[in-house]
Amino acid sequence: MQIKQEILAVFKQQYGTPALVVRAPGRINLIGEHTDYNHGFVTPAAIDKAMYFCFSANEEPIINLRAVNFDRRASIFLDDSLALRQSWEDYFLAVLDALRERGLKPTGGLNVVFGGDIPSGGGLSSSAALCSGFIFGLNTLFGWSLTRLDMAFVAQRAEHIIGTMCGIMDMFASLHGRANHVICLDCRDLSYSYFPLNLGDYELVLINTKVKHSLAESAYNDRRNDCETALATLQKYQPNVQTLRDINEKMLETYQEKFTQNQYKRVRFVVQEEQRVRNATAALQAHDLPTVGRCMFEAHAGLSQMYEVSCPELDLLVALAKTKKGVLGARMMGGGFGGCTLNIVHKRATAIVLEELSAAYEREIGWRPEPIFVRLEEGVAVVNC
Ligand code: GLA
Repeated sequence: MQIKQEILAVFKQQYGTPALVVRAPGRINLIGEHTDYNHGFVTPAAIDKAMYFCFSANEEPIINLRAVNFDRRASIFLDDSLALRQSWEDYFLAVLDALRERGLKPTGGLNVVFGGDIPSGGGLSSSAALCSGFIFGLNTLFGWSLTRLDMAFVAQRAEHIIGTMCGIMDMFASLHGRANHVICLDCRDLSYSYFPLNLGDYELVLINTKVKHSLAESAYNDRRNDCETALATLQKYQPNVQTLRDINEKMLETYQEKFTQNQYKRVRFVVQEEQRVRNATAALQAHDLPTVGRCMFEAHAGLSQMYEVSCPELDLLVALAKTKKGVLGARMMGGGFGGCTLNIVHKRATAIVLEELSAAYEREIGWRPEPIFVRLEEGVAVVNC
């Protein structure tokens, strides 16, 4: 059964017909990693893998939650504290808390059944989809007038309450996605445009390492911290610099000894990645896919060696991809320390590349990675059933 149908069936069995069904997609990111919280550019897109939520009102000041994927239930009392419980429902608590900070509170209880087909730990932003879809549902049901951008900020704030100091990319993409299009988002002023993803004989293939290393959240926050500290240092000498986007490699060299070695590497990566996003998006629009692919391999090298957010499993998948005919580019995608690589592969070569790559990965790591094919889809929306 299709996952959406499954969620609906569970809801109907317990509560009858839902008042509202919402779909909230995961995302990919073509290029521009760890640039969002540095006020740079990113190129994400919403995908066909998504979270689905069924909602109906109830008579008590309680939100009853049921997670279909892992068959768990929880309740949140709207008049009680929204303190985190170190459990899966923390995302819902954090969203309610973030809304409360804006003076918004559900005026009635709800039954919510949710679940989806975004591989968890795959770096496809299932948590951003979770937060975005829940907020969108509340906004619709209670007639608040949050814009999609407001909702993205609430979702981001929820992640910060949980403890990951993420940028805006994931929730922005989930909320603003457009079918067959990539978003080019300027994370400084949040202006954005869409461009069609036209890969001709090539296709995007995600390959899931099926690992998620436990240091992911703390290392993510450390990287952000390195960048912010380095920026503050630089601003002492160059007061006009507002973000890392305002600097170039020459300026970085000038002040090199003011940074710790780690800070220097992180900033260098960010500066180069910014340039790569520009090169890759220009190449994409000129249908120059080999250049896009080269940018991806370079991005991976930078993420692995300078930003140090890769892991042996991701490095192996990219190194293997590099040796395969028909692969134009490959890189780790998302925050890092596990999850997926993103590959641009010639459609005629995909089957053989995946087979050879999986076999080699299995020999080294002990299990087969999982290929994931994605279509680019619309952002969060109400769905008809
Ligand atoms: C995670 C974060 C995003 C972004 C990426 C790296 O997905 O949630 O905000 O920083 O990592 O590009």
